[in-house]
Amino acid sequence: MDDIKYRDNLKKKVLKLKKERDAVIIVHNYQRDEIQDIADISGDSLALSQAAVRADAKVIVFCGVDFMAESASILNPDKIVLLPVKEAGCPMADMVTVERLREKKKEYPNAATVCYVNSSAEIKAESDICCTSSNAISIVESLKDYKEIIFIPDKNLGRYVQANVPDKKIILWEGFCPTHIRVSKEEILRIKAEHPEAVILSHPECNPDVLLVSDHICSTAGMFKFVKASKAKSFIIATESGMLYGLKKANPDKIFYVPTERLVCPTMKLTTLGWVAHALENMEHQIKITGDVKEKSYKSLMRMLSVSGEASGAAISGV
Ligand code: 13P
Ligand code: SF4
Repeated sequence: MDDIKYRDNLKKKVLKLKKERDAVIIVHNYQRDEIQDIADISGDSLALSQAAVRADAKVIVFCGVDFMAESASILNPDKIVLLPVKEAGCPMADMVTVERLREKKKEYPNAATVCYVNSSAEIKAESDICCTSSNAISIVESLKDYKEIIFIPDKNLGRYVQANVPDKKIILWEGFCPTHIRVSKEEILRIKAEHPEAVILSHPECNPDVLLVSDHICSTAGMFKFVKASKAKSFIIATESGMLYGLKKANPDKIFYVPTERLVCPTMKLTTLGWVAHALENMEHQIKITGDVKEKSYKSLMRMLSVSGEASGAAISGV
């Protein structure tokens, strides 16, 4: 069987199983093309958390990395959440531990802890509120009673927030995304010199010198929005390469350049059609957060969604 036929058959199998299981397939923007093609909902981390709250199905198949599936489970305790590949983690999320965070909180007893959703359920439970790359600035600004913010785990996103919220002191953590730091300022400038008309869009997980030469800094969903609204015809995209497929599909008349071939997140790419079919067939791998961690991480996520206009009644002040 040729590759296309094999892929078509797998796709049919996934769609059939999806119906039988009453499942919804939620897909992050960095997933492989074949996975983006079977998405019921695709988007950035914020959009996917919001979609998880609204999901109207018994089963959520989360095509992304583990912290995203964990968030879906925390927000949907009555649903079965499947992560097709158990090993699909996020190395940045592993750069903070509960013990080290507790020590940091002792060092700064008057600070609120804001945690990027790229973190484990245990870390979310230890934090006052979550944020994503699209709402990090507004989340920090919403913490009116706090002058000091412990921001975990991404130091680049933390620095970006600090530059935009100068009246607060952001205490940075030594975490970073091993994929986004692969692109250099020199690579961006080289491609800009070749295409001077192209607009540079960067994800805030990139290094600060990359952000400094960028025209617009935003989450993956922010990139879609920006490109759609822009009169420009070409764009340099400084984020994980999976974005290119969706951007080209949504904007066939526009041109996109990647500054380097190295912008590939290995764990985001682990999910394949075969694994999604396997997940639905065997109802694996079920992600379930329970107990105290579930209760506390739920509060942190709901506070974020409340500031972002999705949930109501979650307390923000006096966190
Ligand atoms: P967003 O899709 O929220 O921009 O997140 C990027 C990311 O690195 C997720 O792992
Ligand atoms: Fe984690 Fe970076 Fe991969 Fe996102 S792109 S999952 S932050 S390693």
